Amino acid sequence: MKTKLATVLVVAGLTVSGVVPPARAGNNEADIQARVADARTVTAGFLKQLGATMKREMQAGGPVAALKVCRETAPRVASKISLEKGWKVTRVGTRVRNPMLGLPDAWEQRVLQDFQARAAQGEKFDTMSYYEVVEEPAGRSLRFMKAIGAAPQCMVCHGSREQMAEPVRAELQRLYPHDRAVGYRPGDLRGAVSIKQPLANGS
Ligand code: HEC
Repeated sequence: MKTKLATVLVVAGLTVSGVVPPARAGNNEADIQARVADARTVTAGFLKQLGATMKREMQAGGPVAALKVCRETAPRVASKISLEKGWKVTRVGTRVRNPMLGLPDAWEQRVLQDFQARAAQGEKFDTMSYYEVVEEPAGRSLRFMKAIGAAPQCMVCHGSREQMAEPVRAELQRLYPHDRAVGYRPGDLRGAVSIKQPLANGS
């Protein structure tokens, strides 16, 4: 097998119009656009489901009980979508509570930094996303990330430790002794949904 240089193709960056991707065998631009649209739809559904479940669980059982929405529901739904779609779907954080699941890789770190820079220019996290066709030794893939902003209702468990209700603080301390996902303020970048779709090898 021919080894390929690890090159990265930026198919469409931060601008919406006028970006003409380089010609490339394999997945064509229409296919990429369809995949990006699919990733967007799936991500919106995922975040909506998490938001609704979190709200319901907070009302029903309070924050200690609702912890399981971020701890169990989110990874379970992400795995279910991954299996159904043949993708890898995860949530990553700018600071991480669970390093087993939430730690961004180098590409994701770069995109998170870029999201911060875009926010500094006035862009809103609600609609902020990025995608790129990436060629790595393991193969080509379409990578997609959608920003997750920290909302007021996230502060119960991701706000300042000093202001946390004691049972929540104690439970987080017990489960995550190395928790770094605290100290957020509403409007901060909390993290992102990250999707990797394997692509057929081009060229
Ligand atoms: C009731 C407590 C609670 C609330 C409220 C909560 N989270 Fe979490 N969050 C957690 C826990 C616990 C984890 C660790 C999950 C795990 O073990 O994978 C977590 C992890 C995450 C992660 C994965 C990265 C990491 O740090 O491990 C993201 C992203 C995240 N939360 C976003 C949010 C957002 C956005 C909100 C508000 C809409 C929110 N959370 C509200 C408890 C909470």
